[in-house]
Amino acid sequence: MKSLTRWIPVLALVPSLAMAWPWSKDMANQISVKPQEGPDAVRPFPENSVPMTGTPTTPYVHDGDAAMTLANPNPPTEKSVAFGREMFKIYCVPCHGDSGTGDGLVGEKLIVRPFDLTAPRVQKEVPEGYIWGHITFGGALMPSYGNDMSPSERWDVVNYVRHGLLTDPTAKKRDMTTTENK
Ligand code: HEC
Repeated sequence: MKSLTRWIPVLALVPSLAMAWPWSKDMANQISVKPQEGPDAVRPFPENSVPMTGTPTTPYVHDGDAAMTLANPNPPTEKSVAFGREMFKIYCVPCHGDSGTGDGLVGEKLIVRPFDLTAPRVQKEVPEGYIWGHITFGGALMPSYGNDMSPSERWDVVNYVRHGLLTDPTAKKRDMTTTENK
């Protein structure tokens, strides 16, 4: 009897190994009709359908230099600037700060302070493609945000930097004299 008790834990594992528990069935195996299954699964195109070649997207560029000459496809509408602002608050504020001047909580800790996005250089001198390229590929220190936002969303951020940041009432400089949040 004693030797049998010894085998109980092992025996208890057998159904697991064999996937033989009553609930071990693969949930994919159901009676429901699966995609592309059944007589009319792939439906023919409706009558008078017109073929199309797709919507042109941002041309593919490999680096910031190539991005310099890209034209911003999104006009700086209120909607685009507002959406860009939302993205800016999520992705850029930690380093560049609400003000865009580089006084973010993370930016403050960096060896090279994030550059001032309200400076004439970013506001007027560089082409918009430069800002888009910087977001897409990052800089010497700045990470790339190419995988976080779609190309069009990045252009919205450019629109906010150029057409919203300077007039945004929430784009205030942080009070660096307090020790709060440090
Ligand atoms: C992790 C911190 C960090 C984040 C987040 C960050 N940046 Fe930067 N950014 C930097 C630093 C540091 C520099 C300066 C050195 C460099 O280019 O890497 C910089 C430089 C830039 C420049 C170049 C300015 C110039 O004068 O050449 C632009 C434009 C810029 N950032 C825009 C953005 C935007 C827009 C976002 C949000 C999508 C963003 N950054 C998010 C740290 C950051």
